[in-house]
Amino acid sequence: MGKSYPKVSEEYQKAVEKCKKKLRGLIAEKKCAPIILRLAWHSAGTFDVKTKTGGPFGTIRHPAELAHEANNGLDIAIKLLEPIKEKFPILSYADFYQLAGVVAVEVTGGPEIPFHPGRPDKQEPPPEGRLPNATKGSDHLRDVFGHMGLSDQDIVALSGGHTLGRCHKERSGFEGPWTNNPLIFDNSYFKELLSGEKEGLIQLSSDKALLEDPVFRPLVEKYAQDEDAFFSDYAEAHLKLSELGFADA
Ligand code: HEM
Repeated sequence: MGKSYPKVSEEYQKAVEKCKKKLRGLIAEKKCAPIILRLAWHSAGTFDVKTKTGGPFGTIRHPAELAHEANNGLDIAIKLLEPIKEKFPILSYADFYQLAGVVAVEVTGGPEIPFHPGRPDKQEPPPEGRLPNATKGSDHLRDVFGHMGLSDQDIVALSGGHTLGRCHKERSGFEGPWTNNPLIFDNSYFKELLSGEKEGLIQLSSDKALLEDPVFRPLVEKYAQDEDAFFSDYAEAHLKLSELGFADA
């Protein structure tokens, strides 16, 4: 909405296409889609719509930002991706990490998310504390996602990203996956959320908040019943997330 995308060179566009293929191969081989999606999200989710600071501009690779508590473990994702990045020096890190996030969703069976290149790399990391806290509820989620400029529907759809991956005790203090198939992108996160806590699966307070809130809960129910609706809203929300502060007209 109201975006005005920069025009990149033909050489740049070709590099995007080639890089996409290399990313598909790496993510399939290393089974690292979850941490790559988390990297893309943490890179973009620092955007502040008022001050236009933070966002998906490649700063997450800098030690100062990687050291933010919320980013524990994401150095692993940066290192996994670096050998591919070296093959495509023309690409910005900003584009590269967001492209990797889009590919992570695609190769695990999720929706296709449009990708527009041309994000510049910025130097200034955002201040710490802009990403959500897993021990808090819906007011906090609205506050944090509201600062990014994202809606209630975006919050619920994007929370479905937890259909991939798991919590690691040594990274976040939590342990365990949200679903029984953490390498498949589907709507099982919402099904599990509605069916209650089970041994071996995790529900963070920020996940459970979606059940308690009168606006969030109907969306959880809809996505649990209708995977196409989830994929469509997820793709829209992920596209917005990946372009926060980019190409604003
Ligand atoms: C709504 C607020 C959110 C909170 C509080 C939250 C919190 C967390 C926490 C605590 C972890 C565990 C990290 C670890 O121990 O490795 C995690 C992992 C993960 N998060 Fe979120 N998250 C949120 C939203 C999102 C969004 C919007 C996405 C993507 C669209 C996302 C994608 C992921 C993925 C894929 C993992 C698994 C990483 C792995 O397996 O290595 N999360 N999240």
